[in-house]
Amino acid sequence: MESKLRSTLMASILWTTATAAPPASGPIKYTDLLNSTIPNAPTNLTNLFLPGLAPSELIQSSACKVYPEDANWPSDSAWEALNKVTDNRLLTRPSPQASVCYDGPLYDPEKCAELTATWSSSYSHYIDPVEMMSPVAQGMTCMPPNVFDSHNCTRGGFPAYVINATEPKHVQLGVNFARNTGVRLVVKNTGHDFLGKSGGKDALSIWTHHFKSIEYIEEYTDESLKWSGPAFKSGVGVQAFEIYKFAHEKGHSVVGGEGETVGVMGGYIQGGGHSPLTSLYGTGADQVLSFDVITAAGDFITANSTSYTDIFWAMRGGGGSTFGVATSVTVKAFPDHPTTASRFSFTSEKIGNETFWAGVRSYVDSFIPNADAGTYSYFTLIPNVWTGIFTFNMSPFFAPNKTLEETKALLQPWFTELGNLGITFDPNITHFDNYYDAWRSSFPLEVVSKVNATTSSRMFPRANFETADKREELYQNLRQSSENNRVQVHFNIKAVDPLNTDNAVNSAWRENILFAQQAVRWPVNGTAEEILRIRQEFQTGDMQRWRDISPGAGAYLAEADRLEPNFGQAFWGDKYDKLVELKRKLDPYDVFFATTSVGSERWKVHSVDGLPNENGKLCRVDAE
Ligand SMILES: Cc1cc2nc3c(=O)[nH]c(=O)nc-3n(C[C@H](O)[C@H](O)[C@H](O)COP(=O)(O)OP(=O)(O)OC[C@H]3O[C@@H](n4cnc5c(N)ncnc54)[C@H](O)[C@@H]3O)c2cc1C
Ligand SMILES: *[C@@H]1O[C@H](CO)[C@@H](O)[C@H](O)[C@H]1NC(C)=O
Ligand SMILES: *[C@@H]1O[C@H](CO)[C@@H](O)[C@H](O)[C@H]1NC(C)=O
Ligand SMILES: *[C@@H]1O[C@H](CO)[C@@H](O)[C@H](O)[C@H]1NC(C)=O
Ligand SMILES: *[C@@H]1O[C@H](CO)[C@@H](O)[C@H](O)[C@H]1NC(C)=O
Ligand SMILES: *[C@@H]1O[C@H](CO)[C@@H](O)[C@H](O)[C@H]1NC(C)=O
Ligand SMILES: *[C@@H]1O[C@H](CO)[C@@H](O)[C@H](O)[C@H]1NC(C)=O
Ligand SMILES: *[C@@H]1O[C@H](CO)[C@@H](O)[C@H](O)[C@H]1NC(C)=O
Ligand SMILES: *[C@@H]1O[C@H](CO)[C@@H](O)[C@H](O)[C@H]1NC(C)=O
Ligand SMILES: *[C@@H]1O[C@H](CO)[C@@H](O)[C@H](O)[C@H]1NC(C)=O
Ligand SMILES: *[C@@H]1O[C@H](CO)[C@@H](O)[C@H](O)[C@H]1NC(C)=O
Repeated sequence: MESKLRSTLMASILWTTATAAPPASGPIKYTDLLNSTIPNAPTNLTNLFLPGLAPSELIQSSACKVYPEDANWPSDSAWEALNKVTDNRLLTRPSPQASVCYDGPLYDPEKCAELTATWSSSYSHYIDPVEMMSPVAQGMTCMPPNVFDSHNCTRGGFPAYVINATEPKHVQLGVNFARNTGVRLVVKNTGHDFLGKSGGKDALSIWTHHFKSIEYIEEYTDESLKWSGPAFKSGVGVQAFEIYKFAHEKGHSVVGGEGETVGVMGGYIQGGGHSPLTSLYGTGADQVLSFDVITAAGDFITANSTSYTDIFWAMRGGGGSTFGVATSVTVKAFPDHPTTASRFSFTSEKIGNETFWAGVRSYVDSFIPNADAGTYSYFTLIPNVWTGIFTFNMSPFFAPNKTLEETKALLQPWFTELGNLGITFDPNITHFDNYYDAWRSSFPLEVVSKVNATTSSRMFPRANFETADKREELYQNLRQSSENNRVQVHFNIKAVDPLNTDNAVNSAWRENILFAQQAVRWPVNGTAEEILRIRQEFQTGDMQRWRDISPGAGAYLAEADRLEPNFGQAFWGDKYDKLVELKRKLDPYDVFFATTSVGSERWKVHSVDGLPNENGKLCRVDAE
């Protein structure tokens, strides 16, 4: 009764706020679910699809989410009904891609060889309904044997059912079904998340990849967000390469990640998101003007500065899979800047360790001025234990809205030092007349799906670079990590929003000068105990050193380690308390969950091997 009342109320709100001529692909009214869609299910099952807030007492008090071995796992007819109401878009027990490598009906050695060859490319994973680019977080239960021998192929941390959603109502029905049955719900876009937050054993997954529409809005005005200018309304499945191209064709650019296949309108934008344009315009989340969202109650709403303002605040930085499932995002559009970029590298091979490190040390002096000038740099420090050689890769130095001369002038102080040290390198500084071409030429596709590594991160604030002593201390700590065989990836950027928007973005981003990542690796054949020990020692060792020299700073929630201690403070800083309060209010029954998401402390995945991955039941912590 209560949900019926709510729905009537909601329906009238949505009717009255609907614009005169909604596009054909526009909002599905709440009543469409109740009047035309749900009646397609057998009458004894319609309650599984009804919107509303409270699941049954049984679900509210059960220790774990509902699993196939439980008596109240939905019947086959319930899953069939879900398939029917979602226009036959339910995928049942989708096989892991590497099934083609193992005995069984899908065995196909040729396809297995193909998959093995392309395993490290993101292109062979985002197209799949379940695959995530962190197999370590999946539980490594079905891998191409020549990449990693999983001895067998089981679904492990992959979901049992996937809705291949293309319309908001598919998402509403999935959310309602999960909430009303107690089945675990996950959301997958591309699967890029470093922590594997798009997976969950035996879950129902909503796959948002096919929300691909992009609409150009010439003039969008929102006074309280201080924005009056062009915008794009983008489906949440849109990836970096798609929005950049579309924006370029309209003479614009948008803030998005460097990685070409990242789902910039999904986990990226809700999690904050850093970009080659971040030193100019802030984080991804700072660009959002409006979200279309399905809430935990199954409502389809618009969250913006005047409507559902608390969801709007929380979803700009609070992280994916926490407050709702977005179906579209409206973001600011910027001019398509001319851009100057440079890629180069040098190694310790001929010059020796001390000279090599002096070269790295001299670069640290440029971090504040370069970030303040609006530039971005992405560089790596790669150790090689076999040869004892270190490599520095600038990949790239990226200067949007800068001429060749301006860029050379910025790099000159450091290049002079490198010259004085006798370090030779070929900087190939190139000017492009637009962002899109500069981006395409400067960022090679990265390797994904590593089997024996995890990355952890730290946002080193301005305070770490303000004095020579502080710069020396920071440099010593980076060097120590290289000497401890950590692969390091660094971004010299600032992430200040010039419009100073109030949102849930990690307060540590606002102080950032160096966003730093280091990875721990372990023997591929290590036992679970060994791996866990190595990963824990990494957190208490090399990562703790980085935390110790940056007290109160944070880490980036989408490029982090599941073992990050005190993750609420690390991922959201002083925003965390408010986010937890909003989570309790907006999703009191934890319909949405992802490991290390806001409020996720109340739940734990009991993985079969005890490692931090998705291969196990999700249960309440207080039920232990
Ligand atoms: C090669 C590579 C390059 C990268 N480059 C960058 C970069 O330049 N800048 C940067 O900031 N990050 C970068 N990242 C990290 C990236 O931002 C995160 O992996 C991010 O989580 C990707 O979002 P996604 O939606 O594509 O991925 P997914 O893994 O599919 O989703 C991530 C999280 O968001 C949730 N989610 C996704 N869509 C929605 C939705 N519509 N509504 C609600 N929840 C949703 C998922 O449930 C999951 O919890 C990179 C990662 C990789 C692997
Ligand atoms: C939906 O059904 C209700 C009651 O059955 C009716 O009052 C309402 O007009 C219907 N709405 C639409 C959009 O069909
Ligand atoms: C619903 O009804 C169908 C027959 O129409 C029956 O097969 C099914 O078992 C019923 N389901 C439940 C959950 O009662
Ligand atoms: C492989 O997985 C199947 C299905 O879970 C299981 O029955 C079998 O015991 C497993 N085999 C090995 C060798 O682990
Ligand atoms: C998912 O839906 C899209 C769009 O309808 C379709 O092209 C694609 O083949 C579907 N994928 C799967 C695995 O069913
Ligand atoms: C927010 O969305 C609502 C509902 O679509 C709309 O009526 C309102 O104008 C929007 N607010 C702004 C500032 O655009
Ligand atoms: C440089 O340092 C590495 C690691 O600390 C070491 O293995 C290597 O031998 C050193 N190289 C030289 C030339 O001293
Ligand atoms: C881009 O450069 C022009 C010319 O120097 C300057 O006026 C403008 O403010 C710059 N834009 C940004 C966003 O910094
Ligand atoms: C310099 O970089 C540009 C753009 O990436 C590339 O096209 C060109 O071939 C490079 N030149 C040299 C000499 O490497
Ligand atoms: C990690 O695995 C790769 C192969 O996938 C291997 O080359 C590398 O040596 C492994 N690292 C360690 C530390 O075992
Ligand atoms: C892993 O492989 C190495 C080298 O082949 C071997 O020395 C080691 O004993 C193996 N470890 C385990 C746990 O099998």
